[in-house]
Amino acid sequence: MKLLRLLILFIVFQVSAQQGGMWIPSMLEGKNEKEMQSLGMKMTAADIYSINNSSLKDAVIHFNGGCTSELISSRALLLTNHHCGYGAIQSHSSVDHDYLKDGFWAMTDAEELPNPGMVATLIVRIDDITNKAFEGISDSMEEQEKLAKISQNLEKIQKEVVKESWQDVFVKSIYHGNQYLLYVTEVFKDIRLVGAPPSSVGKFGSDTDNWMWPRHTGDFSLFRIYASKDNKPATYSKDNVPYIPKHFLPISLDGIAEGDFTMVFGFPGRTNEYLPAIAVDQLANKLNPARIEIRDTALKIVDSYMRKDQQIKIQYASKYASIANHWKKWIGESQGIQKSGAVNIKKKLESDFNKLVAEKGLQNQYGTLLPDFNRLYKEIEDVSLANDYWSEVVNRNIELLSATVMIYQLEQTYEKKGTQAFEDAREKLSKRLEGFYKNYNATVDKAVFERLIEIYANNIPRAYLSKSLSNADFKKLADDIYKKSKLTNFEGASSLLSGTPSEFIRKINKDKGYQLGKELTADFYANINPKFVKTSEQIATVQKVYMKALLELFPDERIFPDANSTLRITYGKVSGYQPKDAVYYNPVSYLDGIMEKYIPNDYEFDVPQKLIELNKTKDFGSYGIDGKMPVCFIGTNHTTGGNSGSPAIDAHGNLIGLNFDRVWEGTMSDLYYDPAISRNIMVDVRYVLFIVDKYAGATRLIEEMKLVHPKKKN
Ligand code: ARG
Ligand code: GLU
Repeated sequence: MKLLRLLILFIVFQVSAQQGGMWIPSMLEGKNEKEMQSLGMKMTAADIYSINNSSLKDAVIHFNGGCTSELISSRALLLTNHHCGYGAIQSHSSVDHDYLKDGFWAMTDAEELPNPGMVATLIVRIDDITNKAFEGISDSMEEQEKLAKISQNLEKIQKEVVKESWQDVFVKSIYHGNQYLLYVTEVFKDIRLVGAPPSSVGKFGSDTDNWMWPRHTGDFSLFRIYASKDNKPATYSKDNVPYIPKHFLPISLDGIAEGDFTMVFGFPGRTNEYLPAIAVDQLANKLNPARIEIRDTALKIVDSYMRKDQQIKIQYASKYASIANHWKKWIGESQGIQKSGAVNIKKKLESDFNKLVAEKGLQNQYGTLLPDFNRLYKEIEDVSLANDYWSEVVNRNIELLSATVMIYQLEQTYEKKGTQAFEDAREKLSKRLEGFYKNYNATVDKAVFERLIEIYANNIPRAYLSKSLSNADFKKLADDIYKKSKLTNFEGASSLLSGTPSEFIRKINKDKGYQLGKELTADFYANINPKFVKTSEQIATVQKVYMKALLELFPDERIFPDANSTLRITYGKVSGYQPKDAVYYNPVSYLDGIMEKYIPNDYEFDVPQKLIELNKTKDFGSYGIDGKMPVCFIGTNHTTGGNSGSPAIDAHGNLIGLNFDRVWEGTMSDLYYDPAISRNIMVDVRYVLFIVDKYAGATRLIEEMKLVHPKKKN
């Protein structure tokens, strides 16, 4: 009986966790290494991570905190996504030379463009410091007391760490506070733009194709790390020289085939794989739908104006893309949760968990976990919803109200911290608002306001509804605010922000738009935020113990730590999938598919003339195969946001692709990874080389790379 239950549990875990996982590169030896080798990997764990010898990890770089990038030459040529380099490419663009539209290629080192503020972080080593972090902790302590003691320990550990003077250090917990890792890093600060394809290549398919397969985006850009003459991190100087890395990735020209081993090495941002069923249900069926409705409404309105007016299109393009990105992801995620039956699978796991806890006589330690989760998630539901309504409607999608939130912070700064702090904050805010109003159109915003404020008032849980919005006439409210508020343009906002602090406060509080924004924001900080934060902390405490229990009760399982923006390895194989009945998606896309999607002059599906020519003449150099040019491919690697730009690596450690997205049907993998349909999307590195070489003629870059033929036996 006991054995049978254990077996059932084992199977549930095997099925849900089989493949997938984002593993710590310094902890691969044993289980992961064996599994990777059984999938076809020809390397050892030490080839991937070593502190004594150079290893793959020396080529994988955290790109500006949010994306991943990899070194691909002995002169520190750095490859990442086009959408990761987008801000930098945009910042160097003007009407005369629009690098977003036309692309950019530095034909000499001297033409490479510096990017002030940009950083690239190399991981020197990872130490497990769990024992030291927990020194002086006892079971009898309250959670708050434990956390205080731990943070005291961490401070000391970081102070005493052995490292070079130019290196940095930080600590992160994994397994929800059950284990602590210390990272020694080198943060490079002179990162220069080397090359980018035109958006019609680098962003081909744009929002319509985003999160979708089949895909045909050449989502890459090239940078270079510069260092001081002694090869150390340094801020920009014209005397800096290309960094000489310990390792860079050779590039395979032999391509991929279905079933080939792949791994993706990078910095995934955040996953939540160990949520209880009730939380997954709440997210997929309550929170996501609310956020989707808000963004759906806003996007439709903004789109209708963007289509009519070129100026509005430029102003809103980037905002639209970022709002649409998560909107589309959430839709896919909720559908995927539904279709995969994730909630019921989790429920089954939980009832088995409880049985095992009972059998092992561990009720005192672990018997209350699931009831606690259920109680706390019920308790947090309304305030989570309110938190989302405020964040989405007030703090983001109604832009005038989002400006009032910033101004509210300024008013608070004066009230709480006095004149000097106020002056500093005002200067910063004025600069920020200048940028804000450059891309602001009051007509668009008013239309968004009218619809969203109604959705807000009708749907935010009643306990959190602000006074002015109960029984309001929304049309009238919109007319009134957008006629009378000075916050509809930069001059008006500047005049409100000017003068002595008390003049500012008098003027701003008379403004109709500010009055509403201030009421909603003050209510948020008084009623919504404190309760949300407090309950979230209680949930985190339960999650920590639940995680500990899972690790203890299933010591032989593949339980990986949730992503937390630290360096991870995920592995799998090149694989198509079946998105729906009777349809199978092949894992590789080709240039032919770009021509199938081509719509002349369309802002998403236009194709550059030169690419059309190259396709006609089949001039693919050594990058094509059998008269076709591969563009993207998919695999079973478990990735998430932050893995953008991550290298896809073959069985021997060579670069085969560049991660940039996931397939829509599988985006629930942040909560529940389903090996049948969760796939990551990569640009085939041969397409990158083809664009650099044949399209852009930047052959000097090809020459510094190391191109190899791992599949050809000499
Ligand atoms: N979906 C990818 C990611 O989450 C790509 C986003 C950029 N592309 C876009 N069309 N918005 O970041
Ligand atoms: N596009 C995502 C990023 O910017 C990666 C896709 C994903 O979420 O897996 O990191």
